Amino acid sequence: MAAPLPTTTDALVGVYRKPPVEFVRGAGVELFDSDGKAYLDFVAGIAVNALGYGDAGLEQAMRKALDGSLIHLSNLYRTQAGERLAEQLVKKSFADRVFFCNSGAEANEGAFKMARRWGRSVGGAPKHEVVSLRGGFHGRLFGTLAATDRPQYRAPFRPLAGGISIMERDLDELRVALNPETVAALIVEPIQGEGGVRVLERAFLQELRALTQERGILLILDEIQCGYARTGSFWAYENSGITPDILTVAKPMAGGLPMGAVLVTQAVADVMQPGDHGTTFGGGPFVSSVALHVLDRLSDPELLTSVRARGDELRTALVALQSSNGKVRAVRGMGLMWGIDVAEPAKDVVARAMDLGLLICSAGEHTLRLLPPLVISRGDLQRGIDLLARAIG
Ligand SMILES: Cc1ncc(COP(=O)(O)O)c(C=O)c1O
Repeated sequence: MAAPLPTTTDALVGVYRKPPVEFVRGAGVELFDSDGKAYLDFVAGIAVNALGYGDAGLEQAMRKALDGSLIHLSNLYRTQAGERLAEQLVKKSFADRVFFCNSGAEANEGAFKMARRWGRSVGGAPKHEVVSLRGGFHGRLFGTLAATDRPQYRAPFRPLAGGISIMERDLDELRVALNPETVAALIVEPIQGEGGVRVLERAFLQELRALTQERGILLILDEIQCGYARTGSFWAYENSGITPDILTVAKPMAGGLPMGAVLVTQAVADVMQPGDHGTTFGGGPFVSSVALHVLDRLSDPELLTSVRARGDELRTALVALQSSNGKVRAVRGMGLMWGIDVAEPAKDVVARAMDLGLLICSAGEHTLRLLPPLVISRGDLQRGIDLLARAIG
């Protein structure tokens, strides 16, 4: 078993607990530590490294993105790559316009501002509230923390930003809570990631869409973890047959470089005026150029077919594990995003898996989370499942 997790170094603010392992290299779906030990990576940088490590196409795209030496310019000026990326995202989604930023939480902060701006523009008293759901995770910045249902993250920072509330995942309660006079937007993850990998039922999402439409409330889908091919559809919303007014993405967008985006309908874009929002780095030439490559790769129908096939294999294996192992209480997920409820603390299984050479993470006290790279082969997936079964015991 790995030793208790120390704070990393005295030079870093101690907000993370990291195991005493240093990774020095990656190849395919494996990472290697400073002792040369290999680890099969079912975390993928928390759903970021969809193409694994050392991907030749991604590395070539990064080299090509340096052509012309434009790494950053700011949004004071026009450049090609960001505009082309926005056009591609529009072409491949429900959206008419895109705003680029640098992380998931920043994308949601932008979405909240756009919702408020929109709520002010629709006549009557300004609608300003944002509602999120029990179990939701939308980031840890000042505004998004108020929409994130993690009591231990929230408590030290109260009072949290106002006008944001968390409601049960219950239609009757939501029918009461979604006041058309005051609520500007409802934000939901089609699959709640940090909150335990909970797939919101297709019918539930459809009801939420109908309810918000009926009441003139924007529906924001947070696909920061579950979007961009992870479920086997490019967008998670495709699995439910609805489209949102606003969608946020980030994690895998730029192959590990920081990037996020807010995708919106024309009606939302129309309320945003010059000066209403901005960010220094968002959609810069280097990162956007790399993101064009990633978008191309992850929206490739062959890749999506492979994610669905691997996802079916994972589902079958996890269901079998649950029926043969009393320590597995429940399994939930879709595509290559799965949660496994276990009897003992998840962190103990995560540590044992690491000793065995498998990286997994948790999503709550008793839930393990699997987020392997989307390019994983059948053989590596099976190897990971075998190691997981050993780690659970
Ligand atoms: C669904 C969801 N929304 C928002 C965030 C916040 O993203 P970031 O850590 O890039 O700020 C995360 C991060 O895990 C997430 O999973």
